[in-house]
Amino acid sequence: MTDKADLIPAPARCSSHTAGRTDIGAGTALEARPGTEGVARWLRATVGAATGLPLPERPGGDDRVVLSVEPDLPPEGYRLVADGLPVRIQGGGAAGVFWGAQTFRQLLGPDAFRRAPLRPDRDWGLPRLTVEDAPRFGWRGLMLDVARHFMPREGVLRYLDLMAAHKLNVLHLHLTDDQGWRIEIERYPRLTEVASWRTRTKFGHRASPLWDEKPHGGHYTRDDIREIVAYAAERHITVVPEIDVPGHSQAAIAAYPELGNTDVVDTSALTVWDDWGISANVLSPSDTTLRFYEGVFEEVLELFPSEFVHIGGDECRKDQWRLSPAAKGRVADLGLAGEDALQSWFVGHFAAWLAARGRRLIGWDEILEGGLPPGAAVSSWRGFGGGVAAARAGHDVVMCPEQYVYLDHRQAPGDDEPVPIGFVRTLEDVYRFEPVPAGLTAGEARHVLGTQANVWTEVLEDTARVDYQAFPRLAALAEVAWSRLPAPAERDFADFEHRMAAHYRRLDALGVGYRPPAGPHPWQRRPGVLGRPIDGVPPDR
Ligand code: ACM
Repeated sequence: MTDKADLIPAPARCSSHTAGRTDIGAGTALEARPGTEGVARWLRATVGAATGLPLPERPGGDDRVVLSVEPDLPPEGYRLVADGLPVRIQGGGAAGVFWGAQTFRQLLGPDAFRRAPLRPDRDWGLPRLTVEDAPRFGWRGLMLDVARHFMPREGVLRYLDLMAAHKLNVLHLHLTDDQGWRIEIERYPRLTEVASWRTRTKFGHRASPLWDEKPHGGHYTRDDIREIVAYAAERHITVVPEIDVPGHSQAAIAAYPELGNTDVVDTSALTVWDDWGISANVLSPSDTTLRFYEGVFEEVLELFPSEFVHIGGDECRKDQWRLSPAAKGRVADLGLAGEDALQSWFVGHFAAWLAARGRRLIGWDEILEGGLPPGAAVSSWRGFGGGVAAARAGHDVVMCPEQYVYLDHRQAPGDDEPVPIGFVRTLEDVYRFEPVPAGLTAGEARHVLGTQANVWTEVLEDTARVDYQAFPRLAALAEVAWSRLPAPAERDFADFEHRMAAHYRRLDALGVGYRPPAGPHPWQRRPGVLGRPIDGVPPDR
């Protein structure tokens, strides 16, 4: 055991007391002090199921695990004291207690991650220690692209469990794109009847000449979303919905042709896109479009309580706007410099619309072009530049540069990775990712809310493929987001790998189909590509 007790993410402080264990058994009670009832429910449902221990509610006596909120701790911070019984899991808020409960589960051993006990008679216990811990960042995220390939509700719930096990707390759901619309909007039924299905799917890489020739589709009903949001909330995870506008919208236009640039293209002939890349079919900058999407966002706000609502804003091709008399008319009416400025007018409209409803807009870093209203935030994906510009302009930013945290990208050099796309980013490369860009002042750096991994799914057709790309690298990202690690070059990757040896057993128990670590096969080659300048290198997608 290392001084971090094989925990992932590494805790701030971990002190061992004596050798030996604190035993947890059939007689051990679980006492939930006020505000911690949800954590107790979670512990009984997961650790209770895995161990077979009843964990009854019974105050008093030493043979107890006591959950409590202690205001001296930061809201997401916790203290876990396991120097004999009672075990105490204390948090600054319920979230802190919950993260402490995650540590408790890790300390019980990998079988605590199963869904039922392997044997009825086994002993359970944890090392005698005290862990004091708190996260570095408040935004520790994962983006799942459920648009390119739909992830059924069960898969999303499972990913929420996997996120909780890694102390990640923001699930960004990319719900709409050219290739599919995944959320029921009651007033626009064709978004799910038509836009959630495509007739076929490009197989593999963008340049592939092959299609799989079978329909692909699916969507979340309003009740599915309510369940996902509630399941996330019980795990102290916020779900941030993304409705991508004004680009990446061909599926919506296929369902409602009036949303497209009808004066330059016959949008009634459009279908949900069956290719990868960036479609030229973007929303028209018309009042019809604005009113339609206000209707969409009204329903989105009813379902998602998150402060932030993501409006995409990335990769909006302007080809049609440049040709469209209607778009040119809009440019003239608004006194804009050109069609490019329509993008920031569009974003500005929804930033104000969301702000009037007490929410904040977040979008991909293209939304910086042309200026951004105060309060809006940026997901910096095209390297670090967008994040630096946003922070310097006083905007909050989530750092997710594609050169580091696009987990659909290949994990080793060579062509043996399944559908090798994008940058090579090994486990070590992700571990050495530093979310706060160099050169920011302390004041500017405070605008870095945190970081998230992005998992795009053009080449990930099912949950098994998502697992393989996301893990083990998501464990490294979780540590980068949670732990106060030294500068990238000084990070102790060997120590992380040592703790990963224990963590792989947890992932096994959870049934995660991760990419196996270094082994005898050519595709398991170890060397990273550290030292290669990567910012600005065009991705090979
Ligand atoms: C993106 O990767 N287009 C945000």
